[in-house]
Amino acid sequence: MFTEAQLYSPVTKGADGDVTVHLSDEHPGVHDPVYRTRRNAIAAMALEYRPGARVPRIDYTPEEQEVWRIVSAELARKRARYACAEVIAAAERLALPSDHIPQLDEVTSKLVPLTGFRYAPAAGLVPLREFFGSFADRTFHSTQYIRHHSAPLYTPEPDAVHEILGHANQLASPRFAAVYETVGAAVARLETERALKFLADVFWFSMEFGVLREYGEVRCYGAGLLSSFGEIEEFRRAELRPLDIHAMGTIAYDITHYQPILYCAESVGEIEDVIGGFFETMTDDTVARLVSVRQA
Ligand SMILES: [Fe+2]
Repeated sequence: MFTEAQLYSPVTKGADGDVTVHLSDEHPGVHDPVYRTRRNAIAAMALEYRPGARVPRIDYTPEEQEVWRIVSAELARKRARYACAEVIAAAERLALPSDHIPQLDEVTSKLVPLTGFRYAPAAGLVPLREFFGSFADRTFHSTQYIRHHSAPLYTPEPDAVHEILGHANQLASPRFAAVYETVGAAVARLETERALKFLADVFWFSMEFGVLREYGEVRCYGAGLLSSFGEIEEFRRAELRPLDIHAMGTIAYDITHYQPILYCAESVGEIEDVIGGFFETMTDDTVARLVSVRQA
């Protein structure tokens, strides 16, 4: 899931219990009443979910399945060309279906034997503390709706394509899954909102938009890149900088455009050492020190 509130379509529940997903004016589905009703119904099911209960199954329409088939085929082709070897191998082991949208239970049953990660439903934005904190239990909160059929290769918000083809393919790697777990463990130590935001931003520039050098070229491992039809190859035009925790945790960025600056690791080992190593030990004090030392 993307971690920025403004990227999600807000979900509200009225006094009458009606759940409404508020799509932006630019959303491809905003003028389609059938799509909007569907989005409200899917969000309502996620809101009703309680841990331990049966994960809601979505009866996806033929139109929605067709969107998945199109995106899945296009991203598989691009992943083979632009993703790093660790992700390609993980995706092969996970073997997500390309002919239908997997239910979250199906994703879980494939992931658990590989890395123990489970998918839980989310209506939209999950509070940062809950979203990142649940990684400690190897749980990933995922939305279940899919983008509008008029634009199968585009979405203004994270959807099932992002959550599953982006994150699950990454979470199928034991090495990346272990980094997620260190993020979850870090959240339990953090008390300040500043430190939590710092963690979210380092995560953004690594597990969402991270790239690494491999075979003499730049390849991606971030879920945001892996799930974006356009950005999965455009990232090569970005300005690449070496891993720098302070910069990743403090640089301003615009989530609505392709990222102009990316942080490039030299290997998966460097991601584990620098990014995983930071999450493993980070506290409120670490963040306060990092920021004040640089300011001085
Ligand atoms: Fe994400």
